[in-house]
Amino acid sequence: MRAVERLRRDHQILSGKLNVLESGLAMGEEAWFVLREVCFTLARQLQDHMQREEELVERCRRVMNPKVLAEMAVEHRDEPRLLRIINDAFVSQQDHSLARIRPMLMEAIHGLRRHMREEEMELFPLFERTLTGPEPDAPEGGPQADINETMTANRVVNVFPDTRPVFERLFISVPAEGCRCLDEVAWTHGMDSGELLDKLDAVIHPTVHERRKAEQQAQPCECAIPE
Ligand SMILES: [Fe+2]
Ligand SMILES: [Fe+2]
Repeated sequence: MRAVERLRRDHQILSGKLNVLESGLAMGEEAWFVLREVCFTLARQLQDHMQREEELVERCRRVMNPKVLAEMAVEHRDEPRLLRIINDAFVSQQDHSLARIRPMLMEAIHGLRRHMREEEMELFPLFERTLTGPEPDAPEGGPQADINETMTANRVVNVFPDTRPVFERLFISVPAEGCRCLDEVAWTHGMDSGELLDKLDAVIHPTVHERRKAEQQAQPCECAIPE
């Protein structure tokens, strides 16, 4: 089922982020900016992932062990909270020291890895056993209507092959960077993820973009309006 596949894919992306954080911590202060950016993205993606997970929990609540539900509620409250504290520390730590951040980050990494491992062993199989009907709001067939920054470049190119030249024009190597999600790829290439999404979306939905462009061009320039 697609919703559980999506959660598994989220876990792969989140694990990739945790690997980057571990490598950054091993490098020390010189990786300070990388750690800060990845930690910020991780917090945002984790929030989105937890929301998707909780939607499935709602649909399976009747067959779920109350103890597991209670544990999950605690993890889904405490892990984003810890990441918020870490992100605040990154913003306020003017001297780029990792002395205070390192132990918190290691705690977050270990906690998230354990949490994901447990879910993959117990929660996801339970979802798969329980949610056997059609997916709500997810009609069979056809590509996804949209793209988002948590999709990997490989997935975007697979679902929307016309986007490949967009990556090539931006000197993004899909064979080398395809397993990374769009916001990370954008960040690596010095772009805002919204900018990359917009360029890809212009190829996926050309008519919408052309209409928007025409509407913008039809707007009279303010400086041309007589007083
Ligand atoms: Fe979770
Ligand atoms: Fe999860």
